[in-house]
Amino acid sequence: MKPLFIWAGGKTRVLKHYAPFMPSSFETYYEPFFGGGAMFVHVMNTYQPKNVVINDINDDVMNIYREIKTNLGEFQQRLDSLESQYLPLSKDDRKKFYFDIRHLHAWDYQEWSKTFEAATLYFLMKTGFNGIYQLNKNTNGRYGTPSGLLNQKDKVYDRNVLSWWHNALQNVTILSGDWKDSVNDDDNGFFFFDPPYRDSFADYGNGFGDDALTDLLDFADKQKRVFVANRADDDWFEDQSRSMNVHYFDITYTAGRRRRTEDGFVAKKSKRNPAFQDRPCDSCLKCPPFDHSAPIPCILKKWRGDPTQPPREAQHKWDRQTDSPPLTHFLYYGNSFPHRH
Ligand SMILES: C[S@@+](CC[C@H](N)C(=O)[O-])C[C@H]1O[C@@H](n2cnc3c(N)ncnc32)[C@H](O)[C@@H]1O
Repeated sequence: MKPLFIWAGGKTRVLKHYAPFMPSSFETYYEPFFGGGAMFVHVMNTYQPKNVVINDINDDVMNIYREIKTNLGEFQQRLDSLESQYLPLSKDDRKKFYFDIRHLHAWDYQEWSKTFEAATLYFLMKTGFNGIYQLNKNTNGRYGTPSGLLNQKDKVYDRNVLSWWHNALQNVTILSGDWKDSVNDDDNGFFFFDPPYRDSFADYGNGFGDDALTDLLDFADKQKRVFVANRADDDWFEDQSRSMNVHYFDITYTAGRRRRTEDGFVAKKSKRNPAFQDRPCDSCLKCPPFDHSAPIPCILKKWRGDPTQPPREAQHKWDRQTDSPPLTHFLYYGNSFPHRH
């Protein structure tokens, strides 16, 4: 199973790096920075926690979970109605439809039921650009992401995913405030803290500064079973682990094509890696029209032409691996519990 939608910083892709450090059992699961809830999916499939508390400061998104939990029928009715109006349209008309619905969601929502509003937002998130959640002044400070590729074939959302979430959420407490209001010290709990990366105001419309991170790490340090995930973009996190253990791992994002990852993280343009500069790949060296002096080398991804002929730039399908050295992520984890192996 998978998250309901793509979410910046979603952790589906990195769960495998966390697996060796998962606790063997716990009573209550807390996920205070929920977003798309990738870890929740794993936890619900692997453990049977007695209690679950999920939270995110984004009330509109948490409202989607609330409505799927309690009003699935009405939620799906609205979603299906939008889907059936949208699918038969041409691309241009789909675009117009998307912006019309986005406009209504921005300005008319007060006349709507919470279920209607949540289903409308969910539709927009499924058809919007790259799963990015953007707030915009033009849209009343509400969801304002541009339209996506608008190329859905026969469905906008996956019915099985929706029904998995409906069932999984039945005994879950769903909150939408600051993380601190969703947790208490708990020796029988497992806490997964995945706060925003330090420079990610643009990703969620809210910042998470160093003071907030310090408070969070102080709280996490007191818990027995705890994960704190973040990206080591600079050295701020060095020496912040308190008594927790640290596990580092690298993730490579292809920045050149700004490829969308499984969980929708769109790789940010990072600094050029000087190690790559001025080193065209072998194929490019044989390829006369290629500008060998260009600072950005390319890496041949797929050469679909005659393998005995040197590829020419105009002919071959190549991709520029511009500037994406691996990004280091880390996981702080509490150590006073048996791990699941
Ligand atoms: C890195 S994302 C979490 C991604 C999530 N683990 C997933 O798999 O999709 C961080 C989340 O923290 C939320 N957030 C930001 N500030 C917060 C706060 N003070 N309290 C609770 N949530 C907050 C953002 O809305 C965002 O969804």
